[in-house]
Amino acid sequence: MSNVVIDQYAVIGNPIEHSKSPIIHGMFAQQTEDAMSYDTILSPIDEFAATVAEFQQQGGKGLNVTVPFKEQAWELADELSDYAQAAGAVNTLVFKEDGSIYGANTDGIGLIRDLTANYNIELQDKRVLLLGAGGAAKGVVQPLLEQKIKCLIIANRTKERAETLAADFTPFATNLGAEIRGGSYNDLREQGQFDLIINATAASLQGIMPPMPESCLYEKSDCYDLMYGNRPTAFEYWCEDNGAALVANGLGMLVEQAAESYFIWRGRQPDTKSVLNSFLAGVS
Ligand code: ATR
Repeated sequence: MSNVVIDQYAVIGNPIEHSKSPIIHGMFAQQTEDAMSYDTILSPIDEFAATVAEFQQQGGKGLNVTVPFKEQAWELADELSDYAQAAGAVNTLVFKEDGSIYGANTDGIGLIRDLTANYNIELQDKRVLLLGAGGAAKGVVQPLLEQKIKCLIIANRTKERAETLAADFTPFATNLGAEIRGGSYNDLREQGQFDLIINATAASLQGIMPPMPESCLYEKSDCYDLMYGNRPTAFEYWCEDNGAALVANGLGMLVEQAAESYFIWRGRQPDTKSVLNSFLAGVS
């Protein structure tokens, strides 16, 4: 009897023990009766490249990359997808037969699929507000603009970061007929109401609501926190209390970005609804 060789995948980060990715990919593999393993790898903070190389040498086929290594993964990749190039960050690595490394970023597609397919939100011609201008925000700008939104306003505590991020994407937005601008939270007082408000700040990790003026929100605003936790975030509570139409967090985005990574690795699109439903029913 010959040994069955199982393709190996993992998620690498620091910390990593609370990652839901092994459960998600385990469910995808089960659905498709796919022979693959998916583990967690805790990489020492200053040994990311060496830890990746070791996994690759052991025959690993691909990695998901999470905090704080997405920028380092971008640098490590020999070839990048368009979204990875634009985001300056990689969350999916593919180890090719010739030994080279392909880097993709599926976070933005994950967000768009969650908004449009799971929540049935129509993005075309919408006014969108993005809170934050760090790595998480940068990863969703291009995919949002591609949905033909009317305008994207980026607000950040450090105003200059928002202005730079908006300036970086101005040619891309202009080509699509969209407006893009960056500024401070205070500047939002003159910006009116938004159809979609996305929290891409790390404030939720600190239990803090970013200082967004109430005037941004009206009864038709959909509000989405890229973070998720066991309890609603401060942003979710605030939006709920202030009468948002919809309040959601990044659990669906997590499942959708995983599905896109799975597709890149395995060439098959898994069913995400059943996985999301399992989480909502209490799998953790
Ligand atoms: P990530 O990769 O998670 O985006 P990051 O690049 O460090 O991490 O960016 C964190 C983002 O959250 C930034 O936009 C940051 O604002 P600054 O650029 O001014 O630092 C934002 N942020 C963090 N804590 C915040 C808080 N308490 N209130 C508002 N914004 C906050």
